[in-house]
Amino acid sequence: MRDFQIAPSILSADFARLGEEVTNVLASGTDIVHFDVMDNHYVPNLTIGPLVCEALRKHGVKATIDVHLMVKPVDRIIPDFAKAGATYITFHPEASDHIDRSLALVRDSGCKAGLVFNPATPLDYLKYVMDKVDMILLMSVNPGFGGQSFIRSSLDKLREARKLIDASGRPIRLEIDGGVKVDNIREIAEAGADTFVAGSAIFSAAKASDANRYNSVVAAMRAELAKAKI
Ligand code: DX5
Ligand code: ZN
Repeated sequence: MRDFQIAPSILSADFARLGEEVTNVLASGTDIVHFDVMDNHYVPNLTIGPLVCEALRKHGVKATIDVHLMVKPVDRIIPDFAKAGATYITFHPEASDHIDRSLALVRDSGCKAGLVFNPATPLDYLKYVMDKVDMILLMSVNPGFGGQSFIRSSLDKLREARKLIDASGRPIRLEIDGGVKVDNIREIAEAGADTFVAGSAIFSAAKASDANRYNSVVAAMRAELAKAKI
């Protein structure tokens, strides 16, 4: 069994109560805070920046924060996120003119580095930088919005990425992002993912205002993962 980790995407959280939302979703048994940064340039939406990441740390969030940059360019903002308490910083290769340099900048800033692949972007970018990535993030939707449907060709891409990681012998996490639900998380795990971003599936699970409202959907995801044959 792989070390499966569930990463709620706070894009679908209630931003007016973000600290409380993050505390509650972590208490429901999730592992990683997935932090979507959009710039209305690389993607057609605008979200949150380093000040919000820092605010979560000040709120007392100790968990891994996985900053998914959907911004172009990336180098200017990487050190700011490192100072703000990011654990991972991942970016899209199309958003950097010098991918190797940007990966090095993430690590030199004290964070773990990752590359993100859009649904139509081939994995070729990894060939000469496998020693410089700690995470490979495959988008199973086109980036920009929560609540989209899982693109099924991502399953083949996961299998391909899993082979590359296993052949490298490196402890690189394989994360999937977009359209992950209780009813598909098992086949996604079987295709090779070990880290599962889920936004709308978790945060829209229930509207009740009790602190435990994310428990049942997270437990259902864990139960599906426990059945995965890998
Ligand atoms: C999309 C973001 C995702 C998004 C996933 O660009 O990168 O992290 O929040 O949302 P769901 O899980 O609703 O597809
Ligand atoms: Zn994301």
